[in-house]
Amino acid sequence: MKVLVVGNGGREHAITWKVAQSPRVDRVFVAPGNAGTNLHGENVDLAVSDIAGLVKFAKQNDIGLTVIGPEVPLCDGIVDVFEAEGLKVFGPDKSAAQLEGSKVFCKNVLRAADVPTADFQEFRDASSAERFINERYSETPEDCPVVVKADGLAAGKGAIVCKTRDDALEAINMIARERQFGDAGNRMIIEDRMSGTEASILAITDGKTILTLPPAEDHKRAHDNDAGPNTGGMGAYCPTPSIDADTLNWVESNVLVPTVHVMKRNRNPFRGILYAGLMLTPQGPKVLEYNVRFGDPECQPMLMRLKTDFVDILEATVDRRLAEIGQLEWDPRPSVCVVMASEGYPGAYEKGKVIRGLDEAAKIDDVVVFHAGTTTNDAGEVVTNGGRVLGVTALGDTVAGAKLQAYKAVKCIRWDGAWCRKDISDKAMI
Ligand code: GLY
Repeated sequence: MKVLVVGNGGREHAITWKVAQSPRVDRVFVAPGNAGTNLHGENVDLAVSDIAGLVKFAKQNDIGLTVIGPEVPLCDGIVDVFEAEGLKVFGPDKSAAQLEGSKVFCKNVLRAADVPTADFQEFRDASSAERFINERYSETPEDCPVVVKADGLAAGKGAIVCKTRDDALEAINMIARERQFGDAGNRMIIEDRMSGTEASILAITDGKTILTLPPAEDHKRAHDNDAGPNTGGMGAYCPTPSIDADTLNWVESNVLVPTVHVMKRNRNPFRGILYAGLMLTPQGPKVLEYNVRFGDPECQPMLMRLKTDFVDILEATVDRRLAEIGQLEWDPRPSVCVVMASEGYPGAYEKGKVIRGLDEAAKIDDVVVFHAGTTTNDAGEVVTNGGRVLGVTALGDTVAGAKLQAYKAVKCIRWDGAWCRKDISDKAMI
């Protein structure tokens, strides 16, 4: 079978690497891919937004299965277009992808499913949102624990956590008056701010059967000890002890199952990766948001551990026969992924720095260097092409062992301005 992977990040490199291991797969194409996906597949010069071009490529090349990595094409309806052409494609359709693409939609599903989440109000204009904040916090302007969220996709920047009334009014201004997130700010929600520890639980579902994946923990802040600005994720490890078996079971029964059930009941079945972003509050886990794809970088350490044939799982999901797969098999060893980034990330950064030491790093036992922001220059050298450049991922007998291997590989790799956090996975060892 020929498989097409859509995307160009570390998540898509990990998907390509895993798909290529299936004995059922002859060739893997990646659109547009990066310098790493080229090692396991063949890059195709088509953007993720070029849905017509991707469909044409899939038909002309007899692609048996297409796997969509990022949320933007899913929310734009790429799955609907592929399916209308009779092509097999993994991911939710446009309507179901609203779980990530619209905060209002997500909140209404959570409410209908009776899934614990923060109380919220929906607003369609700045004035009514400002009136709500001004009235509700008139007595306590310095204590305004809310999150203001643009309804649509905003590249991870559309949820603004507020402490004071002024913070909230500024967030409303950014979203609904300055329109910093464009049409994503046509609607917004204001929800009560929750406190606790954040955790992510992912599952794969065909709309009926749900297979929960082992919990992984992301590291969102730029610097050690969770200091510094928010990023796309500076590293992850899997499994994380912050989610014990009881919590995992509870989330499965009280979050994932009712959500999938309500989507089915609403004739809007969800098929693909359901990623629940949770806050572990003193009152129990509550949903912060849903994503409709693998997390990046969580995908990299997760797929390092998967032993069941990935293509069998993806195809069974598309064919609505996930129940036939049974339990997924995992490598019992934990895995740790350290993201190496460009100087300046998550702010402005330069591209085109030559990366050295990749071959040396790849020789280290149980290490895979997943590429994210990389490309190849005219001289055939691998160069930086993004903020998050590599996800250096390792397995070990213990989390400490996996961390040691990952950082051993990190030490081999260098480019001008390369940096990473030094404490990925330390939370598992406290
Ligand atoms: N690592 C967080 C995300 O993929 O959204």
